[in-house]
Amino acid sequence: MDLLNRISELEGECLKAIAVATTAEALQEVDLKYLSKKGLFSECMKSLRDVSSEDRPKVGARANEAKTRIDAALTAKRNAFADEALNAQLQSEAIDATLPALRRPPGSTHLITKVMGELVRIFQRLGFEIADGPEVETEFHNFDALNMLDDHPARDMQDTFFVGGVDGKTAKATNQTGVVLRTHTSPVQIRTMLAKKEPPVRILAPGAVFRSDYDVTHSPMFHQLEGLYVNKKVSFAELKGCLLFFAREYFGPNTQIRMRPSFFPFVEPGAEIDVSCVMCSGKGCRVCKETGWLEILGGGMVHPSVFKAAGMDSRLVQGFAFGMGIERIAMLKYGVPDLRLLFENDPRFLKQFGI
Ligand code: PHE
Repeated sequence: MDLLNRISELEGECLKAIAVATTAEALQEVDLKYLSKKGLFSECMKSLRDVSSEDRPKVGARANEAKTRIDAALTAKRNAFADEALNAQLQSEAIDATLPALRRPPGSTHLITKVMGELVRIFQRLGFEIADGPEVETEFHNFDALNMLDDHPARDMQDTFFVGGVDGKTAKATNQTGVVLRTHTSPVQIRTMLAKKEPPVRILAPGAVFRSDYDVTHSPMFHQLEGLYVNKKVSFAELKGCLLFFAREYFGPNTQIRMRPSFFPFVEPGAEIDVSCVMCSGKGCRVCKETGWLEILGGGMVHPSVFKAAGMDSRLVQGFAFGMGIERIAMLKYGVPDLRLLFENDPRFLKQFGI
């Protein structure tokens, strides 16, 4: 019965080796060492033929039993290793879905956009509708049709960005159509009248304008809001009433306005319109340079030459127009001390006005 002992011995060794194996590879080695064709078990079973035929079934059964146990132990351990490996992988690939996401701070409306909206809403209550035109404009719409003749100083290279670098006079001399970055929103007056042909016209044109001017108080790109009202009968008093309504809605009910005679080639009569200082209510301070007044608007009655260029008969229609600079109004309303703040796009500045 030596063989029975040998089987028990091998079984014990093998089960122990399985128990102490710490890796799948070590387990594989145990498998090879004991169970493979040339393994210790097969080796031992060769002696079965020396066992008497009477004892052989018993020894055979014992050998099978030992093998079954070893198989079970191997499988159990293999599964344990596989589970471990899977768990490790899951752990290393795990995503913690409970971590808060990185926050992108929300954007906000630029102060110029905000002020434009505020101004537009006031005039919309008087029946004005939005109109627009291109920022790259022909000299016809930007100058000629607005009664700004060839020798008008605003047509000089110093103020106007000529697209393609051709100034007005050279363009004419060489029979080209001059193209400019619009220097004001007034060309939208011309485009609107040419398109509409008949009164009434009651439009607002907000947008960017460009002048070759750059210092602490001037930016080469800034914004204007243009207004135009054309009807069969329109008076200067209506212009005044319209602007007084606007000034009081925007700067407060006690705001005063005054109109001073002024000159723009496309209006007659023309005026510069001041509002009482929003800082000192007219008493005189640094912002209004002790005058009590702030100049914020230009306006007047549409010039007959403008009607003519825009295809309307000045004997049958009348109109008023006005234009204002948005940056200046924004700075006054929100106490912005430096024009450059509006263009530097520093979020610490911008976020104060966002909606
Ligand atoms: N376009 C003029 C400017 O840019 C403003 C203006 C508009 C004046 C309409 C009178 C009438 O200064």
